[in-house]
Amino acid sequence: MPVMSDEKSTVDSHPGGEHSRAGTAADLSGQTESHLACEAYERRSKASEPAYIGVAKTLLADDKGLLAVDESPGTCNQRFAVFGIAQSEAARRAYRELILTAPGLVDSIGGVILHDETLHQSTKWGQAFVEVLREAGIVTGVKVDIGAKDLAMHPGEKITEGLDGLRERLNTYFRVGARFAKWRAVITIGHGLPSRASIEANAHALGRYAALCQEAGLVPVVEPEVLMEGHHSLTTCLEVTEQVLLAVFIQLDHQDVRLDGMILKPNMVLAGLDCPQQLSAEEIADVTVDCLRRTVPAAVPGIAFLSGGQPAKLASQRLSTMNRRSRSRLPWALGFSFARAIQQPALEIWRGNDANVLPAQQALLHRARCNRDACRGTYEIASDQQ
Ligand code: 13P
Repeated sequence: MPVMSDEKSTVDSHPGGEHSRAGTAADLSGQTESHLACEAYERRSKASEPAYIGVAKTLLADDKGLLAVDESPGTCNQRFAVFGIAQSEAARRAYRELILTAPGLVDSIGGVILHDETLHQSTKWGQAFVEVLREAGIVTGVKVDIGAKDLAMHPGEKITEGLDGLRERLNTYFRVGARFAKWRAVITIGHGLPSRASIEANAHALGRYAALCQEAGLVPVVEPEVLMEGHHSLTTCLEVTEQVLLAVFIQLDHQDVRLDGMILKPNMVLAGLDCPQQLSAEEIADVTVDCLRRTVPAAVPGIAFLSGGQPAKLASQRLSTMNRRSRSRLPWALGFSFARAIQQPALEIWRGNDANVLPAQQALLHRARCNRDACRGTYEIASDQQ
């Protein structure tokens, strides 16, 4: 396990020892011994707080969000194929360089989630991407699951794998410079789905992953994604999302995960893509916020939505509407951890051509800024002309 200097308490951890020292000071200041002992106890608790607690608070601070750039080589290649971009490691590296070196990314993005491949790559001038992010003041994260595989005995459902050897991988990622991690579970809505087995198995894996992250000093981003594909109504998505989140927080509790040292990455509550009845941003915002208020403990510092394939502007509008209508009464920051809803316009412009890097970066930065505005509740889809 990595040793972090700020995890070491420099004061006596026995309350009695602190109390007797406080007695001397009390004689001088006139304050009661118990008052001073309380203050000392609070100071000590803060000093001995694991560093990942501070990182969890930082990730969504100042209305910034997370940028997911953690598509597996296979998924990245599929997205490249649409635009005729070479499906090679060199092309993926070049694309990630475009994203990670976009000037001013830090103005809207607090943390970037990388794939293992990218974590070990460098710019064309030889600077490791992790170093580029560190210099920019952006926290490095890493996707640590190894993908969703078929769930035995449950056709059409998936279980995310990657727990074997995870402790060792997390320690390596910490040494390389990562300070947070991501694990995505997928839940499918369909005829009779999701099954209890799929919800429980995925929640259990998320709980075990999150505990391992905190043990290694990394903030777990806990991502249970209820997929948008299907004919289901908003109400069905609401019921399923609520069941899934309740199951996840039960497992996090069973595994003794510190809720103040994690980020939740859920789906917005939406009608299925093929449902004829699609709802307004206001309806979606209110249903999503109510769902989260019923299921997410106040100790969690931040909720960062995935975009799940929503059109980029709609994702910004829905997040903005949530913050505009509810921000003042929410215990957690409500932000974003988008991949497609930030990257897609940039990818469409780049198309693998060096000459398009600058306009592609501008498009990326524009979407990142729109989503920062959405965190403040000030994004207006009508004025978003790009
Ligand atoms: P999308 O925003 O494209 O859904 O991706 C988020 C993500 O990280 C999925 O794991």
